[in-house]
Amino acid sequence: MNSYAHITGWGMAVPERVLTNQELAAMVDTSDEWIVSRTGIRERHIASSAETTASLASLAAFRALDRTDLHPGDLDLVIVATASPEHLFPATACVVQDNIGAVNAGAFDLSAACTGFIFALNMAAQAIRTGSVENALVIGAETLSRLVDWEDRATCILFGDGAGAFVLQARARPGGVLSCTMRSDGSGGNLLEVPAGGSRHPTSLETVHNNLHKIRMNGREVFRFATRVMADATREATHKAGLEIEDIDLVVPHQANQRIIESAARGLRMPMDRFVVNLDRYGNTSSASIPIAVCEAIECGRVNPGDNLVLVGFGAGLTWGALALEWTNPELDVPPARRRRRRLLAQIAAFRSHIRRFLRFLEGLIWGSYTEGEK
Ligand code: ACO
Repeated sequence: MNSYAHITGWGMAVPERVLTNQELAAMVDTSDEWIVSRTGIRERHIASSAETTASLASLAAFRALDRTDLHPGDLDLVIVATASPEHLFPATACVVQDNIGAVNAGAFDLSAACTGFIFALNMAAQAIRTGSVENALVIGAETLSRLVDWEDRATCILFGDGAGAFVLQARARPGGVLSCTMRSDGSGGNLLEVPAGGSRHPTSLETVHNNLHKIRMNGREVFRFATRVMADATREATHKAGLEIEDIDLVVPHQANQRIIESAARGLRMPMDRFVVNLDRYGNTSSASIPIAVCEAIECGRVNPGDNLVLVGFGAGLTWGALALEWTNPELDVPPARRRRRRLLAQIAAFRSHIRRFLRFLEGLIWGSYTEGEK
């Protein structure tokens, strides 16, 4: 039987704290006028010390699950696309898996910077299409504020924190994810990078002293690359889905810069009212920007059953890609949503996690004494 990967749940989470352009102008040599005219960004959300990539991701995940008839234990797969993971390892997806109680899911991170959510969505959709997975959770989550050099005016004005999540479910009826284009060009890796902290430049006093753990970017080059690939990728994914550009009701682009989005619209000869833009309020939230924009478009009534959407992104790597999907009415597919209480589920997951840690501790004691007894 054919399986199609339909989006049945969606949710987003952003930190409460809003950082305005005016506040930034008090921190570095910039102005609201410069930032708005060059980027379109007016404000962004910044994580508190208590918020992390995994905590935002978990909240978005619970909100997405709330819209479905699924229990976290029904999930087979959790993918977190992120460029600002909780740790080098374990994967942020495993932290989320534990937080939400997805006890039957395989969980891993996907690193493709701002294109990560599109790549992750495609991986989950393909797993559903082959029949190996039935229910998947795909999250884009970032706390890039932790990697920003707050003294570099060329980058600190751009980024914000947040998370967006989709639940994908297998359905016999056609629709959902239709096609995807995934591309990369590692020769441009140095254009946007966090140079140290990996195996190339392990953390040392020197790397810290030279500020190598912060985002470095050649803005002009990234800008030129982005304007080149956005329209092409959109066209490619559209044609792969057997559609024409005129059939696309809504394009949800990566929210990096208003001028990049306008250039893509011109390249596609599409009016701007068919593009979702919310970067004025969130800045560039990297892999979270597309799912957050989709969530807002749905809430505003801009996405209707039967609509064809293209999600298109670009980012560090260099990476870029686009994914075409037919939005199907989730309510038609699932029994009336059994809204579960998020707080209770989170408490159960936390309790389960504590029990598992305790059992592991007991096991350690037993095995430890057994080994000692053998000696
Ligand atoms: N305030 C005031 N002046 C500034 C600022 C600022 N915040 N930042 C840079 N300037 C100055 C520069 O120093 C430069 O001055 P100069 O001419 O005296 O040298 C001047 O403004 C113009 O600088 P440009 O870099 O040419 O400005 P540009 O119009 O290209 O805008 C920007 C810069 C906004 C960064 C743009 O290049 C851009 O958006 N690039 C794409 C970045 C992007 O999308 N990155 C994310 C990719 S996604 C991911 O994977 C995370």
